[in-house]
Amino acid sequence: MLNSGIEVEKAYAQKVRLFLQQNGFFDGRFRVISGSEKVVFPCIDMPKKDLVALKKLHSSVKKISVGFSGRPRKPRNMKQALFGKLSEKELSFVPSAFDSLGNVAIIEVPKELKGKEKLLGEALLEVHSSFASVYLKTGAHQGIFREEPVKLVAGKRKKFAIYKEHGCTFHISIGKVFFSPRLSTERKRISGKIKKGEHVAALFAGVGPFPIVFAKNSKMEKAIAIELNPQAVKDMEENVLLNKVSGKVEPVLGDVKKLAEKYAGKFDRAVMPLPKGGENFLQDAIKFIKPSGGIVHYYQFTSRKDPYTIPLQQIKSACSSLGKKFRVVEKRKVREFAPDIIQIVIDFRVQ
Ligand SMILES: C[S@@+](CC[C@H](N)C(=O)[O-])C[C@H]1O[C@@H](n2cnc3c(N)ncnc32)[C@H](O)[C@@H]1O
Repeated sequence: MLNSGIEVEKAYAQKVRLFLQQNGFFDGRFRVISGSEKVVFPCIDMPKKDLVALKKLHSSVKKISVGFSGRPRKPRNMKQALFGKLSEKELSFVPSAFDSLGNVAIIEVPKELKGKEKLLGEALLEVHSSFASVYLKTGAHQGIFREEPVKLVAGKRKKFAIYKEHGCTFHISIGKVFFSPRLSTERKRISGKIKKGEHVAALFAGVGPFPIVFAKNSKMEKAIAIELNPQAVKDMEENVLLNKVSGKVEPVLGDVKKLAEKYAGKFDRAVMPLPKGGENFLQDAIKFIKPSGGIVHYYQFTSRKDPYTIPLQQIKSACSSLGKKFRVVEKRKVREFAPDIIQIVIDFRVQ
């Protein structure tokens, strides 16, 4: 098979290589041919104006078609893997970020690349051999269970993703439960704050990442992990066994609101990672805390310009309705969400 190459006298090879690399024309999938007098660089097709600029580097620069010997090199990123398969304009829209759930990748594809999802998925598999499948995110998290709708675009169809984090392994039912690797830093951060012997209420627990990471990375006594989605609870039960934390994490299928009375006043700490609508559960979460006091970790999506005013008002109003006092211990940005929206967390002590 013939591919495009740029031939040049050896003395000018370095200049040409730099030009090709800096302008994104170097086709890193193939090996450079180095003769005694000339060098041929593999390249992708470039606009005429760039070829003219390249030829100005030295009179020996020539575009040729050549069969590059040896096996093609593994592409280093999606763009490289897609050289020659997408136009130059399309290549500029290829995403560089994606979510990795262990052996499964979840990609988002911009509208400019609609119809090219399979190509992108295959490119990702070519670059990252650790992935068995690539799923396309087909919409935002939806419904009360906050599942992420996805569609297989490349590789093998899998029921579960197997994801590892902070010494724990998680089975995650693809497309049927909420899971976000982007909260990993939060799980470790809170683990570092939990004191020996604490009882933790892990609310909105999903497949169990918060309580299971706590069990493995802190000296807590026990967590109850409340979750409404039956499939997530099934996954969580499996994850509790998988991580050998049966005595420490108790999955409970149910509604945080309904269970707040049953578990009232029993916990040193409550974690409530339900950013959308979390304000409707603030009073319930506070009820879990011991009368002697404890910490609530409250997550919200808020405005980038003024992230804390509204969530602090929500905390104040929930505490005063229950006749409780509170003190903010820490407030921080968790992650970017949309151009004008960020996710934040406020840790407050309530008594
Ligand atoms: C944003 S997800 C967080 C899941 C998990 N903590 C994680 O980080 O992967 C919110 C979870 O809360 C659950 N949920 C929603 N409303 C609930 C309720 N009233 N009681 C218990 N769980 C609820 C959803 O099913 C979903 O799994």
